[in-house]
Amino acid sequence: MPERTADDVLLVHGGVPLQGEIALRGAKNLVPKAMVAALLGHEPSRLLNVPDIDDVHIVSRLLQLHGVSVTPGEEPGELVLDPASVVQANIADVDAHAGASRIPILFCGPLLHRLGHAFIPDLGGCRIGDRPIDFHLDVLRQFGAEVDKRPQGLYLSAPERLRGTKVDLPFPSVGATEQVLLTGVLAEGVTELRNAAIEPEIIDLIAVLQKMGAIITVHTDRVIRITGVDRLGGYRHRAMSDRLEAASWACAALATQGDVYVRGAEQKDMMTFLNVFRTVGGAFDVGDEGIRFWHPGGALRALPLETDVHPGFQTDWQQPLVVALTQATGLSILHETVYENRLGFTEALASMGATIQLYRECLGGTPCRFGQRNFLHSAVISGPTKLHAAELVIPDLRGGFSYLIAALSAQGTSVVHGIELINRGYEDFLGKLAGLGARVERVA
Ligand code: UD1
Repeated sequence: MPERTADDVLLVHGGVPLQGEIALRGAKNLVPKAMVAALLGHEPSRLLNVPDIDDVHIVSRLLQLHGVSVTPGEEPGELVLDPASVVQANIADVDAHAGASRIPILFCGPLLHRLGHAFIPDLGGCRIGDRPIDFHLDVLRQFGAEVDKRPQGLYLSAPERLRGTKVDLPFPSVGATEQVLLTGVLAEGVTELRNAAIEPEIIDLIAVLQKMGAIITVHTDRVIRITGVDRLGGYRHRAMSDRLEAASWACAALATQGDVYVRGAEQKDMMTFLNVFRTVGGAFDVGDEGIRFWHPGGALRALPLETDVHPGFQTDWQQPLVVALTQATGLSILHETVYENRLGFTEALASMGATIQLYRECLGGTPCRFGQRNFLHSAVISGPTKLHAAELVIPDLRGGFSYLIAALSAQGTSVVHGIELINRGYEDFLGKLAGLGARVERVA
């Protein structure tokens, strides 16, 4: 449970439709990885459209501890990353970041290439399941790294230059695919990755690496081939905008019967979400610079929904959408196939008046990895139900934003604790809420 401090509490006066415009920044699921990629180069890199969020601060600090200079560039949201003198970091300093983020695991490959060894603190991230790192470690061992797991973290070494390898992932993991990319680009020879994740953020990371001089081809059927090179330069890259944040605001517009223009939202990265949004009864209009999302009036429609890896319905879109589904007429059936434990947030919605029943069975067309393993990973949502205010404690990033959406659409004043957690992934969300006319107050 997040620590409670007075200024971490938000009073949300619900029942006000969100109306207005917000602007997206670079994607949380791309930017920290592009920052890590800069460590592979021998020249400075420039990353544009960087959001002011905790993951960016943590990765900046870790890069600095390893001798990379991280300074603001000319335009707002620009970072200049100079890896001219990469050094081994003090282990105690690195360890101070234990539990703060999952991104440090992606430092492994770059540090092994640059220094021959690496120390990675115990990982954090949202508490949405076990989130093991077995794929990552298997991949690193296949490249020739030696991995020593100790209580305080991972000690890795590469006695020789890492060698290209054939990897077949048991599941198209985003993080493990990034691990292969960030390690394979400087490994000797060819790396072939099967069952790769192909999320748009991964394709954007490949674009970054290609700018640095990497040779990576994306084939059909989730196959990625990397031809290792001896040296990489820097890059200049404008990060893709955050399609997950875009969907959060779209769902907030729908659940509060509002109308929000999301500047920077890209249709091509959100097609699956847009189909579902329309099926539920939401309206949207794609413009040159963003997408307008609104509730067109009338009843919303329940639907069956399964989360999946890209191009399926992204798991991070699920929680905000579920809030809107509490307002849809009929039974919505949800099957979460990416994380075993991403439905815990529904308990809070139930305490606000939603009717949601969780199931251990796979309630969807595709049996998933969790069906026989006793995880509550399916849900039936019966609507519409009026939501009323409640006292809520934010559990994780997307769950937290969903609580906010629920509180914004509920009647009465909700007390929301732990809002700091939302800063991990949403830049200036309080400013954005205010700009959309939400009635929220931070408790001093
Ligand atoms: C990333 C995203 C997260 C998104 C997720 C899936 C970032 C910072 N986070 O997380 O927002 O929800 O992709 O699109 O980009 N797994 C293992 N062993 C491993 C690695 C993963 O079993 O070594 C399992 C996980 O427990 C999970 C599934 O694979 O069930 C997917 O995880 P993965 O795609 O790796 O997610 P992340 O990269 O952590």
